[in-house]
Amino acid sequence: MRLEPLHDRFAVVVHDVDLRAVRLYPEIRAAFEEHSLLLFRGQQLDDESHTRLAKLFGPLENREQMAGHDDSFKVSTVSNVESDGSLTPEEALRHLDQQANMLWHTDSTFLPTPALVNLLMATVVPSTGGQTEFVSTRAAFDDAPGELQALLRHSFGIHQLTHSRNQVDPRLINLRHVSRWPDRAWRFVWPNPVNGREAIYTASHAYTVDGMPTDEGAAFVADLLTRCTKPLYRYTHEWTVGDVLIWDERAVLHRGRPWPYDEPRTLKSICCSATAADGLTAVRGGP
Ligand SMILES: [Fe+2]
Repeated sequence: MRLEPLHDRFAVVVHDVDLRAVRLYPEIRAAFEEHSLLLFRGQQLDDESHTRLAKLFGPLENREQMAGHDDSFKVSTVSNVESDGSLTPEEALRHLDQQANMLWHTDSTFLPTPALVNLLMATVVPSTGGQTEFVSTRAAFDDAPGELQALLRHSFGIHQLTHSRNQVDPRLINLRHVSRWPDRAWRFVWPNPVNGREAIYTASHAYTVDGMPTDEGAAFVADLLTRCTKPLYRYTHEWTVGDVLIWDERAVLHRGRPWPYDEPRTLKSICCSATAADGLTAVRGGP
C-alpha cells in the first residue's frame, strides 16, 4: 500500500489496494486516522463487499432503526435516477432534498449517534460537474487563534436537520424523514483519541450555540463555517467510475457540487456510527 498526497494539509490517494480484499484494514485505518480523507481508484465494490468493508470501521448507520423501526440495513444510493430508470425532475422534493448535500456539512450530526465515516463510491458520473469538495477542519482548528480554540473546546453546537433543509426549500422540513429528529448538541471540537489532533466539528445542520441567544449563536456558527471552508483547506474531487472516498467525519466537512441534471449520476454511500472508542463521549453534550 502506497500513499500519495492530494493536498498539503490532509487527504491522500491510496495505491495498490483492492478494497474487496480487506487484509490491509489496520493500515487503512491508520491512514484514515492520520490523513482524514482516503481516495482509492479503480475499485469494484458491490453492495456486499462495500458493506463488509464498512463494517470494519464500526456499526453500520441505520436511520430507520434509530427512529425505532425494525428495518434491515440498506446501502444508500445518492442518485437522480428513479427506480423506473427516468431522471428525477428538478422540481421534485427528492431532488431538492439532495440539493441540501451541496451545503457544507458533516454527515448525521442530527442523529442520536453521529457518523464516524462515510465510504462513498461512484457508479455513474456525469460528463461535467458533480464534484465532492472537502475541507480539513483539523487544519482550520490548528490555524485558529488560541482564544477561539479555547472557546470552541468548551462550547456546543445545536444541530437539527430541518435547519439545513430549510435553507434549500421550506417544504422539505415537513417531510417525515427530516422532521423526526430532535435537537442534538455536539462539542465544537472533536479530539482524535488515537493521535490527539483536534478538529472543528460543525455542519450546516448546526443552527446555534448552546447557552447563547439564538441569533448570536447563529452568527457564530455561520462565521465558524466560513472559517473552516476557506479555499486553502479545500480539496475538490472530480469523480471517475470506480473511485471510492473514505473520510473521517470528525475532521472534515464536505459538500456536493451541481451537475447537468439531464444526466444521470449515482453514488453509493455507507456511513458507520461513531463509538466511544472514536472519541464520541468527549463531544456529546446535553442533559
Ligand atoms: Fe454528506
